[in-house]
Amino acid sequence: MMYKFSEAAEKRFQRMLEAFPDKRSLILPCLYILQRENGFVDQDGMNYIAERLGDPISLAQVYGVATFYTLYNKKPVGKYHIQICGTSSCYLRGSDEIEEHICNRLGIHTGQTTPDRKFTLEEVECLGACGYAPMVQINDDFYEHLTPEKVDQILDSLN
Ligand code: FES
Repeated sequence: MMYKFSEAAEKRFQRMLEAFPDKRSLILPCLYILQRENGFVDQDGMNYIAERLGDPISLAQVYGVATFYTLYNKKPVGKYHIQICGTSSCYLRGSDEIEEHICNRLGIHTGQTTPDRKFTLEEVECLGACGYAPMVQINDDFYEHLTPEKVDQILDSLN
């Protein structure tokens, strides 16, 4: 697939090029822009960013950054991307039970997408809302102090 920034993204990219003299600073935001526009950042997307940044940024550098951060989706995700935190505070507050409940409810395993492409479930590391454990992030929103009942209400509310 051939990528191309939208007009708005291209403007943003050009502004960043002027603002940041070191192109390494642009790898993260460029990947972010691509993901916002495309939904994920695959190998072709990484190629595109490396080409757009050009020398001295290599494809290996872009690849290294994109694959280090789990926040970049390396493959398409469903309309609702559910990221459940499985780190200490959430784990101690029952994230396993919540995760199992979501899996049973959606009929998928963690890491999978429902056949209708509505939901993708992934387990991630701490999302910084430890005081509100257990929690999930769905697209851009946090849902906290979860119980199986609360999860059902949340999933029912997503069209
Ligand atoms: S441990 Fe779950 S948000 Fe920090």
